[in-house]
Amino acid sequence: MRTQVGIVGAGPAGLMLSHLLHLVGIESIIVENRSRAYCEARVRAGLMEDWVTKLLTETGVGARMQREGLPHDGIYMTFNGELRHIDFYKLVGKRVTIYGQQEVVKDLIARRLADGGEIHFEVTDTSIQDFSTDKPKIRFRHQGRAKEIDCDIIAGCDGFHGVSRSEFPSGVRRDYDRVYPFGWLGILAEAKPVEDELIYAYHPHGFALFSMRGPKVVRYYIQCKPDERLDDWSDEKIWDELETRLGGVRPLPRGPVIERIVAPMRSFACEPMQTGRLFIAGDAAHIVPPTGAKGMNLAMADVRVLSRAIEAFIKSKRNDLLESYSKTCLKRIWKAQRFSWWMTQMLHRYHGESEFDAFDMKRQIAEIDYVTGSEAAMTSLAENYTGLPME
Ligand code: DHB
Repeated sequence: MRTQVGIVGAGPAGLMLSHLLHLVGIESIIVENRSRAYCEARVRAGLMEDWVTKLLTETGVGARMQREGLPHDGIYMTFNGELRHIDFYKLVGKRVTIYGQQEVVKDLIARRLADGGEIHFEVTDTSIQDFSTDKPKIRFRHQGRAKEIDCDIIAGCDGFHGVSRSEFPSGVRRDYDRVYPFGWLGILAEAKPVEDELIYAYHPHGFALFSMRGPKVVRYYIQCKPDERLDDWSDEKIWDELETRLGGVRPLPRGPVIERIVAPMRSFACEPMQTGRLFIAGDAAHIVPPTGAKGMNLAMADVRVLSRAIEAFIKSKRNDLLESYSKTCLKRIWKAQRFSWWMTQMLHRYHGESEFDAFDMKRQIAEIDYVTGSEAAMTSLAENYTGLPME
C-alpha cells in the first residue's frame, strides 16, 4: 500500500488529522489496533474548548454536536459549603461545549468512511520503519496477513502507551513526568443533572466533580487512591460520597451507575515531538491530569498545526512548518500543563504526603476563595478553561 501520510491510531488526534488532510486533498491511511466498536465506546472526558467546537463545525463534522452538545457559559466551584459561579461568557466572551469524546470519535469515523477514507481496525504487530529516511513505512498484520504502508510522513497518534514515542532513537527525546499520589474514580449514571453547569468541589475528603452528558445522563468523578479497587465501591457508597463532597449543594438526583473506571493521574510531556519523518501528536506526546479536561483539546491543537505543516510540505515543498511543529505545539502544551497542574493542586487533598497538611488546606481554601471572588483571577481561569487563542 502507498499513501502520503500514514497515521497510527484512530482516536481523536488520528481521525481529525486524517479528516483535515482530506479537506486539503492529501491522502492518508489509519491503522488502529482496537476494533471500531471499542474506539466508539471508549468513555473519556467530554469538554470542548470554544475553538474546537468551531473547528468541528467549520470542517463539516459538527452537525450532531450542534444538536446534542451542551453549551456551558461557566462553571461552579464549591468549598466550605458555599457554591460560587464563574461566568466565562461574561468574562471572556467564550463558552465550552459538553460532548463526549467518544461521540466526536463516532462522528469522525463516520465522516472519514463516507469520504472514502481508509481505516484498518484490529491490526496487530504495528511497527514504524525507516523514518530517518524520506521513505518511512508502517508495518502491521491484519487478518493474519503482513502488510506495509509506504508513505511520505508518519503521524503517531497512538496514545500514551502506543509504539510511536518508544520508536524515538535514544537520546533524541527528553521526558518530563510527574505522577500524582491520587486518581479519579469516574462514573456514568442514569440520573438527572443536579445543576445546569459543572461543579468542581473541594472537600476535606478530597475532590469531586459533577459533569453531565445529557438531560438524563450524568458523569461524576471522585478523588481516590491511584490503585483504588472498584469492587470496594457500591452504587450507594458512590452516591453517598459524592453527596458529602459536593457539600450539601442540594441532594443529588441518584440513578443506576452504568459505567465506572479508575484513572491514575499524571502530567507528562516529551520534547521534541518529531524525529525524522515521524511526528507524534496527542497523548502519544503528552498527558495532562484530567482536571480542566484539556486532553482532547490539546490533541486537536497538535493536529491542527500538523495538518497545515504537512500541507505546506506536500504542496509547496516547504519544510519550515514541519521543522517548527514541535516548538509551536509545545508552547500551547506547556500552558495547558501549567493550567491542568494548577487546577489539580488547588482542588485535591494531598493526604499524608505533607506534614504541612493543615497549612495546605488553609492555603487551598484561600486560593479557591480568591479564584472565585476576584474578577482578575476569574478572568485568567476563564481564558485558560475556554481555550487560549490558537493562532
Ligand atoms: C469532564 C471531565 C473533566 O476532567 C473536567 O474537568 C470537566 C468535565 C467530563 O468528563 O465531562
